[in-house]
Amino acid sequence: MSPSTSVPFVPSTAPFNAQQRAWLNGYFAGLTSFAETAAPPAAAPPVAKKPLLILYGSQTGTAEALARKSAKEAAQHGLEASVKEANACALDELAKTERLLLVPSTWGDGDPPDNATQFWSALSAVEPPRLDKLSFSVLALGDKNYSDFCGAGKKFDERLAQLGATRIHPRVECDLDYEPAAKGWMATVLPALSECGGAPALSLAAGLPATARLVSALESAVEASTSKAFSRNRPFPARLLLNRALTGDGSAKEVRHFAISLADSRLNYEAGDALGVLPTNCPVLVSDILAALGCDGEEAVRAPDGGETSFRNALLRHYHITQPAPPLLEALAERAQSVELKTLLAPENKAALEKHLHGREVIDFLIAHPLARFTPPEFVALLRKLNPRLYSIASSPKAHPGEVHLCVSIVRYEAHGRGRKGVCSTLLADRVEGDATLPVFVQTSHGFRLPASGDTPVIMVGPGTGIAPFRAFLEERQVLAAGGRNWLFFGDQKRATDFLYRDELEAMFKNGVLTKLDLAFSRDQADKIYVQHRMLEHAPELWSWLEDGAHFYVCGDAKRMAKDVDAALHELIQSAGGKTKEQAAEYVAALKSAKRYQRDVY
Ligand SMILES: Cc1cc2nc3c(=O)[nH]c(=O)nc-3n(C[C@H](O)[C@H](O)[C@H](O)COP(=O)(O)OP(=O)(O)OC[C@H]3O[C@@H](n4cnc5c(N)ncnc54)[C@H](O)[C@@H]3O)c2cc1C
Ligand SMILES: NC(=O)c1ccc[n+]([C@@H]2O[C@H](COP(=O)([O-])OP(=O)(O)OC[C@H]3O[C@@H](n4cnc5c(N)ncnc54)[C@H](OP(=O)(O)O)[C@@H]3O)[C@@H](O)[C@H]2O)c1
Ligand SMILES: Cc1cc2nc3c(=O)[nH]c(=O)nc-3n(C[C@H](O)[C@H](O)[C@H](O)COP(=O)(O)O)c2cc1C
Repeated sequence: MSPSTSVPFVPSTAPFNAQQRAWLNGYFAGLTSFAETAAPPAAAPPVAKKPLLILYGSQTGTAEALARKSAKEAAQHGLEASVKEANACALDELAKTERLLLVPSTWGDGDPPDNATQFWSALSAVEPPRLDKLSFSVLALGDKNYSDFCGAGKKFDERLAQLGATRIHPRVECDLDYEPAAKGWMATVLPALSECGGAPALSLAAGLPATARLVSALESAVEASTSKAFSRNRPFPARLLLNRALTGDGSAKEVRHFAISLADSRLNYEAGDALGVLPTNCPVLVSDILAALGCDGEEAVRAPDGGETSFRNALLRHYHITQPAPPLLEALAERAQSVELKTLLAPENKAALEKHLHGREVIDFLIAHPLARFTPPEFVALLRKLNPRLYSIASSPKAHPGEVHLCVSIVRYEAHGRGRKGVCSTLLADRVEGDATLPVFVQTSHGFRLPASGDTPVIMVGPGTGIAPFRAFLEERQVLAAGGRNWLFFGDQKRATDFLYRDELEAMFKNGVLTKLDLAFSRDQADKIYVQHRMLEHAPELWSWLEDGAHFYVCGDAKRMAKDVDAALHELIQSAGGKTKEQAAEYVAALKSAKRYQRDVY
């Protein structure tokens, strides 16, 4: 259960162990309840704080972290914020709410994340309640690489306004480099909200009772200590302990297992979390870009944080230099007077542009348009910031203390006459040598977790690299000697070369940790066999596990696999459970509400 934000809490990244964290959290909760119940001293009358509801929709925790940060900032503006996932908010509660901040990311094809889908369904129903009392603002998270940029945030924003709510601040849309935009949004929206509805809020600092001031001081102390802790903004330089192939000779893929040391980092994680890796670009590609621009790399440019650095270092460490961003394409079209590129960039040619961009990178456009000249500062201003990559953690910390393991598919392909390399996966595979370290951070998942009881059965569907968190889950259950049944559906191309973690899984099946192991090798026969086919073959048994309270997990490819597995789940609930289509949809919705259907898809 996520802590309520009106009570200060110690984040999991703080440099305390679980026991210390639990003690501090209990202490804060106690102090807060004392502050709430104790009679205030005569000189400090109780402060009227205005309630603020902050809802997030977040798949991998970014929007949730921003929602919690907003709640913390809100306290400085006389607002008492409560934070929760959007699905946990019923519409009759929303209809009574006066102030709302909504922080949704976008997944799938412009869809809300799993923990906001039910909220969206309720809002978009035919006759939801009017929201005339509500003042709101949306901070939408997304990624401009996707065609429906911030699609979910846009839908929420428009729908809330349609239902009569007042947009107190225009929607802010954040690309992967979300921090400056999010900070700006908080700085303007919170004062505006504190002015709206009810009596004007009092200055909090002036009216704080002594106990609340103590809480505030303790919170600052925790913040000071956590700011020294390793995090996304201050990644830990980790050593790579192991890099070995999981796929065999002759495989069409290259999937590798990595073990990374977290020794001396004080970073904690749980099975179900992800590891963020801040990559650097391939130095050969950087040199090729410098050569195409006629530069030696020593020129001074700005890094994204405003500091000065060399052009080579900026291209190596700070900017995304593979897929070109629209401003660079527009500048190239203009400077090279390219009719072809200008035509492709016209709004009506979006599909043709996407097709043209497939497999083409910045270097291809520079070579194709030598007439377009840029100074180094102009060039970096047209690039996006290089962002961290997330990897589902493939180990349990109980089985591998001080280590984190990853299962990574290495991106390499040939396109338009040039060998291409995925930035981070090939860094991991090829470029961490000698004493070199990798900047990493733990991205805590608040949703993707084993059931609280070790006796609850779990069903895991994880083809390809989707196996990663399930290796962690199984290790965790093995170490804890949990009694619950475990069923894994795994699949990949060929049994001989692509049966990832074969020895470990077969050993777990033999020793009973894995109750059932169903395999789907897609290319060992003429017809494709996928994990969802295996699910349907076992529909009655899978149904009985669900009826026994099993939790159902899916990890791996979001575009095709996760959708097809979802369809198969609906289908087997109908066939084996004797439900109609609508009843099956209700059953799945209930599984989601009970956190018994969780996904980690990408
Ligand atoms: C929550 C989460 C968990 C994840 N867990 C894992 C995991 O456990 N294991 C794992 O391997 N990955 C995982 N990923 C994906 C991972 O974060 C990276 O996206 C992946 O490793 C690719 O990153 P890269 O830097 O190597 O490639 P990038 O440099 O980002 O290149 C990838 C891009 O290359 C292009 N591309 C790739 N193949 C082709 C092709 N054949 N033709 C043309 N263009 C192509 C596409 O534009 C694609 O977007 C996860 C992602 C998320 C969000
Ligand atoms: N953009 C692309 O074209 C592309 C291609 C591959 C992977 N990826 C991405 O690369 C990442 C890692 O891939 P991965 O190595 O983990 O595995 P993966 O490519 O997802 O493949 C794992 C297994 O899933 C099968 N599969 C394909 N389509 C499926 C579907 N609709 N339903 C169920 N199973 C299906 C594959 O079969 P077959 O391969 O035989 O069909 C293979 O046997 C993922 O993010 C994935 O999205 C992208
Ligand atoms: C599989 C996948 C699909 C995504 N789809 C979209 C999309 O359609 N539109 C968009 O703007 N961003 C999309 N994103 C980007 C996320 O919205 C972005 O990374 C966001 O910061 C994630 O926030 P969260 O951690 O709170 O979920 C997608 C990301 C992934 C991994």
